[in-house]
Amino acid sequence: MFLSALPAWWLPMSNEANIEQKIILPLLKQWGYSDAEYQAKPRIGNEYPDFVVRLSRTDVSPFNYLIIEVKSPEQKKLSGSQQLKRYMAIGRTVFGLLTNGREYQLFYQNPLKEPLRQVNCCSGDLDKKALQKLGKLLHRSTATALMNALTHQQLKVYHHFEKELTKKFSFFISSIPAKEASMIITVFNHKGGVGKTTLTLNLGAAFAEMGKRVLLIDIDPQANLTIGVGIDPLRDVEEQGRKDISDLLLEPRVSLEEVIYRKSWDDLQLDVVPSHIRLADKEPALINTIDIDRVLQRKLSNHSYDVILIDPPPAFGKVNTIALMASHGVLIPTQLAPYPIRAIEYVLARLEAMRNAMENPPRPLGIAVSMYNRSKSAANQQMRSKLENILSKYGNTIEILPESTWIPEKVTMLHTINFGQPIFSEKLYHELRRDRNSLDDLTQSFQNLARYLSSKALTK
Ligand SMILES: Nc1ncnc2c1ncn2[C@@H]1O[C@H](COP(=O)(O)OP(=O)(O)OP(=O)(O)O)[C@@H](O)[C@H]1O
Ligand SMILES: [Mg+2]
Repeated sequence: MFLSALPAWWLPMSNEANIEQKIILPLLKQWGYSDAEYQAKPRIGNEYPDFVVRLSRTDVSPFNYLIIEVKSPEQKKLSGSQQLKRYMAIGRTVFGLLTNGREYQLFYQNPLKEPLRQVNCCSGDLDKKALQKLGKLLHRSTATALMNALTHQQLKVYHHFEKELTKKFSFFISSIPAKEASMIITVFNHKGGVGKTTLTLNLGAAFAEMGKRVLLIDIDPQANLTIGVGIDPLRDVEEQGRKDISDLLLEPRVSLEEVIYRKSWDDLQLDVVPSHIRLADKEPALINTIDIDRVLQRKLSNHSYDVILIDPPPAFGKVNTIALMASHGVLIPTQLAPYPIRAIEYVLARLEAMRNAMENPPRPLGIAVSMYNRSKSAANQQMRSKLENILSKYGNTIEILPESTWIPEKVTMLHTINFGQPIFSEKLYHELRRDRNSLDDLTQSFQNLARYLSSKALTK
């Protein structure tokens, strides 16, 4: 392949212009595009993306094939996905490639499908293998076939083509749901301190990075998730007279929209329903309200999110029932340690009881291992066997999620608490750059977990 001919320029690039000259332009030629078929810095609306590829034979088509956005290689973590997605939407473009020369993200959208949705179809290091994959998908011959289907302007033709594309390039569109399935997941374990809140926050951020619209609901009076996204329950909620989870649960007229806080860190956006310590005093009011168990389920009935994650307190109280009743799935985090594992038995018994009492009980999505210490291999193996033993009592219907999704125990995680941001935030990554390896390990595991849960939800 052309990669064998990669010359000396395949060395760390010093700036964006270098990457454009020495990687992008040769690639565009390699992929079969003529000079007339791409433009550098063309104007699209009021924006100026780095490169736009548009086939000359499909000039009549209102669609572009590819937008490439190049970022500085000095940027330690590839960012700019929201900007690229905006360009794709404005330019009605099928593919968007984001790269800093070392890493890449490829986004896809079906320009015929309203509303437009850009999904992350693959990402990783821009190595030989990735370039081979991209070379096939972004090659002029694939573009020509796709654009011909598009210019027919017939959804049926296009969907057929999309199906063919998925078959041919198995990596492609694995993240595109056939049906826009939404997931409401409670991260549940009545054992305290097993990493529920940390997992909820960062798993939510990993989903958001995949292009999903994410809502986090804090239904724990400790309000750790609320604080974890940088909302101060006293200053930002109480003193501002704003509403929180208690209002959503107890005030029949309060809708979901009224309690949502929009948080964003550069490209990353998470919507949040905050909590406040006053929720702790509401247990009697909750118990005395008729049909309270279904209140959250009702209030979420018209939501427009792809993923909703609910973080309940470490208890078996009313709010936990409310959270579980609203959920499609339950993710059970645990450390590989004796007490947390013992707690799993109670969790499973509780879920079993719910299953018998409910028409549509939440589905256990599996056991997510948190704070995993790789160095304790003998103890880990022993704990794993213990856990498998417990799961076998439930007919092995509940799986321990694959090891690639296990969240490593890292001291860095303790430092992140001061930032009020998920570990995926660019600013946090910069501030804690000395712990880069730990942060990379952590983000990788959360991304693996998000991808695994996405594929699992789709095979429901
Ligand atoms: N991967 C990790 N590595 C190191 N420390 C972690 C990790 N995940 C969580 N922690 C730390 O463990 C502690 C408990 O985590 P967290 O608050 O997420 O647990 P929790 O189950 O939500 O607790 P609670 O039951 O009180 O709600 C926190 O101090 C958190 O910073
Ligand atoms: Mg918590």
